[in-house]
Amino acid sequence: MSPTDEAALQSAFDAAIGADERIEPRDWMPDGYRATLIRQIAQHAHSEIIGMQPEANWITRAPSLRRKAILMAKVQDEAGHGLYLYSAAETLGVSRDELLDKLHSGRQKYSSIFNYPTLTWADVGAIGWLVDGAAITNQVPLCRCSYGPYARAMVRVCKEESFHQRQGYELLLALSRGTPAQHAMAQDAVDRWWWPSLMMFGPPDAESAHSAQSMAWKIKRHGNDELRQRFVDICVPQAEALGLTLPDPDLRWNEERGSHDFGEIDWSEFQQVLKGNGPCNEQRISQRRRAHEEGAWVREAAAAYARKRAAAPSNEDGRR
Ligand code: 3HC
Repeated sequence: MSPTDEAALQSAFDAAIGADERIEPRDWMPDGYRATLIRQIAQHAHSEIIGMQPEANWITRAPSLRRKAILMAKVQDEAGHGLYLYSAAETLGVSRDELLDKLHSGRQKYSSIFNYPTLTWADVGAIGWLVDGAAITNQVPLCRCSYGPYARAMVRVCKEESFHQRQGYELLLALSRGTPAQHAMAQDAVDRWWWPSLMMFGPPDAESAHSAQSMAWKIKRHGNDELRQRFVDICVPQAEALGLTLPDPDLRWNEERGSHDFGEIDWSEFQQVLKGNGPCNEQRISQRRRAHEEGAWVREAAAAYARKRAAAPSNEDGRR
């Protein structure tokens, strides 16, 4: 391609971004835009499937059939979100095998939050309320992401995440209004999940390597700090309604800013978790590798069936 052609394509791309139009898979896009999307969508997809593990840990121990059915449906939804997202990434020219290989070999990340253990049943509620709540806060703006397939996947993901958030809230409410021991269990779960949930939004804007460029490309619509603040402001009244306390003595309403001030996040903990030294990193990734190996026969059978269908002559009505 001549430099003039490339310049024309770049300016058509810039104009589309400027006009808030969607970029679609067959459109020309800068290499950096493609690479950023692959990185973010892959990390997002990996988070969805790794995120199945901490909650699946409680399926066999759910306290009632109703709770078990809800939890199973939720964990299945997360698998579905992974599938939408891997499919969205594939439209950018990478294969799912390649992405999974990068996850398994530690060359791509997944969300820090899933490296914490689920110690009690109340953790299922705290994950729904806080972790899924943080995910929604982060992901609703992604429904307006400039890349079409990612934005469309996010619409469905966000609808399902809203259900997940509500089930967590309802579960915590039941515990909070239950016996003193149940209330204490709910409070303990919130104490452990609050700070890691705030870390889900990523490093402060000043240290965020990708935010400025991702916002210029309208992949991200807001910085990490703005979304984190929005999440804190949403959670404070919800915690009051739940009868639970957020574990931050510095949390208070700031009249001037029209937002809550909150305490310092322990970014060294975040960095340690990203480096693989969180409480459950090793467990999560080895479980994921094992599940992948044990599922090899399913992938082989599906591929063999697809080959057989493709080779079979069609019936007159188009059925094989
Ligand atoms: N956990 C792990 N890594 C994180 C992270 C987190 N919480 N926050 C940031 N990082 C990583 C980034 O990936 C980047 O590393 P890289 O260069 O190797 O990719 C580095 O830290 C610097 O961070 P930046 O702020 O520059 O990175 P981004 O601009 O990509 O912003 C983000 C980070 C806000 C997480 C953004 O990627 C994003 O919005 N992603 C889509 C949403 C997502 O991935 N959510 C996962 C949450 S869990 C979930 O959705 C499952 C549901 O069931 C709860």
